[in-house]
Amino acid sequence: MSSLVDYKLLETPTKGLIPLAKRNKELKHNITNDCTIPHRSLNITTKGECFIDNCEMYLPFVICNILDLERLEDVWSNPLAKELQKDVEDKKFTWCAVEHCRIMERDLHWINNKGQEFYSIYVNVDESCNLACPSCRTDMILHTQGDDYNRQLVYAEHIVNLLRNFNERTHITLTGNGDPLASNIMRPFVTNWIPNDNHTITLFTNGLLMSKQLPDSKILPNISEFKISIDAGSKEVYEVVRRPGKFDKLIENLDWMHENKPEGANIHFRFVCQKANAHDVVNFVELTERYDAECSISRLDDWGTFENFAEEDVVDQLDHPLRPGFLEQIREVVDLPYVSIPYNIIKYL
Ligand SMILES: C[S@@+](CC[C@H](N)C(=O)[O-])C[C@H]1O[C@@H](n2cnc3c(N)ncnc32)[C@H](O)[C@@H]1O
Ligand code: SF4
Repeated sequence: MSSLVDYKLLETPTKGLIPLAKRNKELKHNITNDCTIPHRSLNITTKGECFIDNCEMYLPFVICNILDLERLEDVWSNPLAKELQKDVEDKKFTWCAVEHCRIMERDLHWINNKGQEFYSIYVNVDESCNLACPSCRTDMILHTQGDDYNRQLVYAEHIVNLLRNFNERTHITLTGNGDPLASNIMRPFVTNWIPNDNHTITLFTNGLLMSKQLPDSKILPNISEFKISIDAGSKEVYEVVRRPGKFDKLIENLDWMHENKPEGANIHFRFVCQKANAHDVVNFVELTERYDAECSISRLDDWGTFENFAEEDVVDQLDHPLRPGFLEQIREVVDLPYVSIPYNIIKYL
């Protein structure tokens, strides 16, 4: 049985996350905020590993493999999970990456706008995608056969079966590391799953396959959020940062979504800053307005895909030639109520 004694940080930290982020065991912050995230979160990786936080680097313990679970609720009552939950309840946060997970800023709970608690499940079992955005990968990844494909498909099918028997209020995010509508491995979610009334879904996607895959899918009525990564506001920029996506196809899909989204579903566009889009911020925000959406603008992380990351890093490279123009655009949009920009960018204004 795993135990805290076996604790070790992931040897190959997930790309984009801060390797070896410091834990409160070392930092010794006195934190008074509450957190119930490890009681209600599940994040499943491409290896079927189950973590009980939104991000594996926040609380880097593999609780079990998804195939070990006969019922979803068993992950939160596992002895290792209990030990971690108790540590967090006692506000020690011994193993938590407290300077990254936002516990220093506020209480952390999964609570909806009616004040009801819910479970949050991130399904990250496949990296397959129809695009090869330069910030994310150097080559196209699209699994269609082989051992990894077969194994990951089994994870996806198993999760769908577990969800069929899980009636608690639950929000499911499809998917954080590939594209849910392009991946063959994620197909069981799109074609075979009928979510129940307590299930809501964030569709996290490049959006290019919505009009093709969603009309026949039973998940459409349960989508409460469309989170669409665009990274641009113009055709010229889009077709560089979202290779080999086509801007016209994106617009076609956004129009379809606007017409067909469930009532009340939230639309959220995402923009990750890099050299090729540093001048396209205002255009992006105008696109957001056109679709009555909200948007967020975030910093680029080094996922090892650029030969010279500093050249791309228009936010933190203080002498970057594109930085003044970029910050000027940020100043123009920062106060708009539907635009969200994190502190790590705003601090430079
Ligand atoms: C990997 S994608 C998976 C979901 C979906 N395919 C999409 O693009 O929205 C998740 C998010 O990571 C963002 N992303 C890609 N490369 C990044 C990087 N180097 N740093 C930070 N975020 C990045 C994408 O823009 C997207 O919003
Ligand atoms: S669409 Fe998403 S998963 Fe696909 S390559 Fe781009 S960022 Fe990565």
